[in-house]
This record gives sequence, structure tokens and C-alpha cells, in this order.
Amino acid sequence: MSDPKKLALFISGTGGNALNLVRACREGRVPAEPVLVVASKAAAPGVLKLRSEGLLVAILDRKDANSDEVYSKVCLDVAKASGAEFIALAGWLRRLSIPPEWEGRILNIHPGLLPKFGGPGMYGMHVHRAVLASGEKESGCTVHLVDDELDHGRILAECRVPVLPDDTAETLQQRVYAKEMELYPKTVAEYLGENPR
Ligand code: GRF
Repeated sequence: MSDPKKLALFISGTGGNALNLVRACREGRVPAEPVLVVASKAAAPGVLKLRSEGLLVAILDRKDANSDEVYSKVCLDVAKASGAEFIALAGWLRRLSIPPEWEGRILNIHPGLLPKFGGPGMYGMHVHRAVLASGEKESGCTVHLVDDELDHGRILAECRVPVLPDDTAETLQQRVYAKEMELYPKTVAEYLGENPR
């Protein structure tokens, strides 16, 4: 088996998906070694959780950069300096501009089906509220490659769940989130296995 890939995790929130990926790596279910966490704000609850797993967490706040472009470059340069070969966005809420050297090496999980429930404003509970408002019978989560356009890169995998008649945004979020915990590690593992660098 080839060496584990070095993986950076980018978070803005609870760090639940990131922690789940870290555990999957450590249990040998994902052929990667987490080398760095980048957090977009110091107050993200995931910061403490991931630090207590022994991970180096770099806090890079958008407010400290002059522009989205500078911010994006700094985040990717810090990941590169850590030795990361791949990046998994895990609840990351900042725009990234993807230079050619990172194309095909950054993955994201989205809590809805794409392309219909993606794009500006479609994050977190907004997605689940939009799904309920649209009367869809199904929702789900999607793992995709990241490019310069929001929620747009090549779809690698999706998992569908039913929308139940008495669902609230919260109950739907919980059903989708449970599937995220399965889909992201599985898809990252498959993708890294197919893409030696
Ligand atoms: C998840 O629902 C994920 O799909 C989306 O952001 C949320 C992050 O949750 N990209 P967590 O911080 O991993 O708990």
C-alpha cells in the first residue's frame, strides 16, 4: 500500500466532519495523515476539539487579510507549508480561489443535493429550509471537488435521504448530517486511493 497522503482540514464551525475524518484516518479507513487544521475564526468550536486531538490548528481570520484573494492564498500557502497534499473542507465558510497547483486536490462536503441546493446563501440550515420550502421528497449530502465557483466542482459522490412529512429543518439536518459522517470518509478514501501524488 502507498504512503498515506498528507491532509489538511479547513473548518469554520463545530469541526464535526473534520473530527470524523481525523478518526477515520487514525483507524485506517482513510489513507491519509492529518497534518494541519485551518480554522477561519478563533471562536469556532472545532478549534478546541481538534487541538485536543493533538492537531496543529492555525487560525486564519478573514478580517486580517486585505482581500479574498490574499486570504485564500495565505490559507493555501499555510496548508502547503504543512506538507499537505490534499485539503478537505469541513464546514469551511470562506471563498477560496484555487490556483492550478491545487486543482483536483481540495474536496468539500455540502449538506444538500447539488446543483439545485447550492450556491450563494446555501449553507447550513439555509439549505434544509430551502429543501422544505421547495416541497422536495428527497435531500442528501454531496461531496465534490472545489473550484473557483461556489458548490460547483465535479461531484464525486452523493447520498440521498427522504424528506418526511413532519420534518423541520432541524430533523432534516440531523438525518443528512448522519449520512455526512459516512459519506465523507468513504469518498475521501476512494478519491485519495485513485489519485496518488
Ligand atoms: C456540514 O453540514 C457540512 O455539510 C457543511 O457544513 C457543515 C459543517 O458541520 N459544509 P461541522 O462543522 O462539520 O459539524
